[in-house]
Amino acid sequence: MRAHYRDAGLDEGDLAPDPVTQFAGWFAQVRAAGLHEPNAMICSTADEDGRPSSRTVLLKKYDERGFVFFTNYGSRKGRELDANPRVSLLFPWHGIARQVIVSGTAERTGRDETAAYFRTRPHGSQLGAWASEQSSRVASREELDAMFARLAERYPKGEDVPAPAQWGGYRVRPETVEFWQGRENRLHDRLRYSRRTDSDSAGDNDGRSGDGGGWRIERLCP
Ligand SMILES: Cc1cc2nc3c(=O)[nH]c(=O)nc-3n(C[C@H](O)[C@H](O)[C@H](O)COP(=O)(O)O)c2cc1C
Repeated sequence: MRAHYRDAGLDEGDLAPDPVTQFAGWFAQVRAAGLHEPNAMICSTADEDGRPSSRTVLLKKYDERGFVFFTNYGSRKGRELDANPRVSLLFPWHGIARQVIVSGTAERTGRDETAAYFRTRPHGSQLGAWASEQSSRVASREELDAMFARLAERYPKGEDVPAPAQWGGYRVRPETVEFWQGRENRLHDRLRYSRRTDSDSAGDNDGRSGDGGGWRIERLCP
């Protein structure tokens, strides 16, 4: 599988006009390839002093507005994003020698969107979101289990569990999206979409257009 993708490579001519359509094509292929948790991505944030931190989160939806994941707003990542919304998302699709890196800015999803997604989660995960004050210290595993048991009593199976106020989504609006395809001899293909800004001159447009003014595509050395 890896060899097949390595041989095929990635050409400018193969690319969709915008990175979200391109991502959709690769996402379909990674799913078809049967990779485990293809929607797992490394989400990196930085605090006000620029100190970075990373963790895995799950991509729950994406469209031309951006890439969405759900978490606890009071967690380390949530606090860092509140102070500094710049974020990097990395999809490590090693099994097919591919990697996608999104960089952009995160903003909270609306409450309705969060509530709609929360309703689709299994009952146990809903209770878990209430039980865990993510990233804060907890004295013991027993304390966590006791909290869960109390919540399970309060909200038995079948009963509606509201989304906790501190829990919700972030939508990452991409500024750049890099598609990396592993090749022979370390001569990998790296093609990067960068969002055009109003100040970009119209003259250097390669004819591709996309969300809000379109995207510039550049090849990077591997
Ligand atoms: C495969 C995988 C998927 C995960 N998905 C999520 C997720 O969607 N949202 C989330 O908040 N944490 C998720 N986690 C847990 C995070 O990696 C992390 O432990 C947690 O969000 C706390 O991170 P923080 O203290 O840096 O904010 C996932 C972990 C793994 C290994």
